Amino acid sequence: MRFDVISLFPDMFSVVRDLGVTGRAHKQGRWSLGLWNPRDYTHDVHRTVDDRPYGGGPGMVMMAEPLEQAVQAAKTERTDADAALPVILMSPTGQRFDQAMAQELALSPGAVLVCGRYEGVDQRFIKRCVTHEVSIGDFVMSGGEIAALAIMDSVLRLLPGVLNDAESARQDSFNEALTGLLDSPHYTRPEQYQGMTVPAELLSGHHANISVWRRRQSLILTAQRRPDLIESARRAGLLSKADEKFLAELG
Ligand SMILES: C[S@@+](CC[C@H](N)C(=O)[O-])C[C@H]1O[C@@H](n2cnc3c(N)ncnc32)[C@H](O)[C@@H]1O
Repeated sequence: MRFDVISLFPDMFSVVRDLGVTGRAHKQGRWSLGLWNPRDYTHDVHRTVDDRPYGGGPGMVMMAEPLEQAVQAAKTERTDADAALPVILMSPTGQRFDQAMAQELALSPGAVLVCGRYEGVDQRFIKRCVTHEVSIGDFVMSGGEIAALAIMDSVLRLLPGVLNDAESARQDSFNEALTGLLDSPHYTRPEQYQGMTVPAELLSGHHANISVWRRRQSLILTAQRRPDLIESARRAGLLSKADEKFLAELG
């Protein structure tokens, strides 16, 4: 797996390259990172990457040419850069990124991630070079770097061998082992904390009861916070009779 990132702030990517489980996986050679600064593909003394918007209005727009050349340079360095290689622009107007997209990317050879700045990027660059536009939520950040980091982290932790316990990603919210529902609450030592105790089921050592408790907590939390996920699981036929009975009792 290889990510190539087009960014005016390539240093920001040391976070995912050097720290935590993604940093360890990078050291182990499980994934690689190419960083491409559009400023390196400018031809003026000021290394200009942006200009005023046609039609007027506030802010600046990233120019098409340095971005396109940076993407081309990244593709040239990749041995697998064919037409199918996704070139994904971070954009609040893009498709909302989710766990299904993370899982799909985790099974692929990777992608080129393009980070916008200022008011955004020249539409002609998007038309010529971008295959997907992706948003990480309905809010606007000053650049695409944090969105790219979020995407990379969510994808990389799904690669084989990146997490110490492969089962832990499967048991996360939105994943198949939870039929796409939210995760249940977690507890660790000590057993008593500030007058609060750990639920008796988790202390029982009875695996079947623990798994019923976790499933019910997932159903309660998802019904409260994300009823849309209950509906999706129901439509996909992923809710058992016991799930439906419990949901009916919840009301
Ligand atoms: C200030 S934003 C531009 C916002 C743009 N004018 C708009 O209203 O849609 C600058 C850059 O940050 C990135 N960005 C901001 N919010 C984002 C989000 N929610 N998801 C993905 N990228 C985002 C994009 O790359 C964008 O080009």
